[in-house]
Amino acid sequence: MQQKLNEIRESVRARLEKAVESSHIEEIRVNVLGRKGELTQLLKGMGKLSAEERPVIGQMSNQLRAEIEGWLDQKTRELQDKEKAARLAKETLDISIPGKEMQQGNQHPLTATMEHLVEIFVGMGFTVVDGPEIEDDHHNFELLNVPKGHPARDAQDTFYFNDNLLLRTQTSAVQSRVMLSQKPPIRIISPGRVYRADEVDATHSPVFSQCEGLVIDKGITMADLKGILDQFAREMYGEGIKTRFRPSFFPFTEPSAEVDVTCAACHGEGCRICKGTGWIEILGAGMVNPNVLSMCGIDPNEYTGLAFGIGLERVTDLKFNVPDMRLLFENDLRFLMQFGKGRI
Ligand code: PHE
Repeated sequence: MQQKLNEIRESVRARLEKAVESSHIEEIRVNVLGRKGELTQLLKGMGKLSAEERPVIGQMSNQLRAEIEGWLDQKTRELQDKEKAARLAKETLDISIPGKEMQQGNQHPLTATMEHLVEIFVGMGFTVVDGPEIEDDHHNFELLNVPKGHPARDAQDTFYFNDNLLLRTQTSAVQSRVMLSQKPPIRIISPGRVYRADEVDATHSPVFSQCEGLVIDKGITMADLKGILDQFAREMYGEGIKTRFRPSFFPFTEPSAEVDVTCAACHGEGCRICKGTGWIEILGAGMVNPNVLSMCGIDPNEYTGLAFGIGLERVTDLKFNVPDMRLLFENDLRFLMQFGKGRI
């Protein structure tokens, strides 16, 4: 029996030596000291011992139990400390490693210009309205005094879904929608995308943006048109900027004008961007043609109106000194990142 006790002591020692996880210790405790454990089983045989042997072996086994329990506890602590140290080492946050830089985006120059422009007109009392980019022939052409076969259609060829549905060629299509649904006084702007079957070059793109303006009331004159557009140019480009109205033709306005502003790149001296003229055309405008008013249910004897359509890419190029319109669509970060945060 003594021999057996020694064997158990040795085997526990050997197993403890090999144990590398605190859970192994628990296994050993159950295997040796548990109800069906080696030592417990051995002690159950005590009854067979002689009266002299019994107390001796009893004492020895109690000692061994205490001894084993001590080892188990110590080893458990050791392993738990080691495990904790390993876990801490793994979870350590090395705050000396530089973080990954988050690139901050900024507003696209076209969006910045659009927002600036909207702000300017809202400041003058205009309301912003939206119109569909997929338009019908009626609103995009007919109601704007451009019947089928009118030569003005040639300059605005577009993408057709069928004989009637098309991608709008001008935000002027919103004019007719507003006049048909609202009663004067009307004072709206409508910024948005327009489409034309144009080849891409430095100043053309099949997709571009405009902002339509429409004012209808009693006694609206060309002086109002000039005043509004002068104010717009000053707020967009600064005080030194002048506008120039050149007579032009649009079927839906009479009289019509194309409006230039002083070239911001050379301040009117003449440069490559303004092709030496000192002026850059940014919009078309005019007094709403009485035919258009009548077709849209507004009495031209009572009301007059003004309208303008601003080319947003032109305004942007001029504002930020962008030499080629394509840069606005190519989404090259080297170009876009030059515009800093928000509006410059
Ligand atoms: N719609 C015209 C164009 O796209 C511009 C314009 C708008 C002219 C409003 C006069 C009045 O060319």
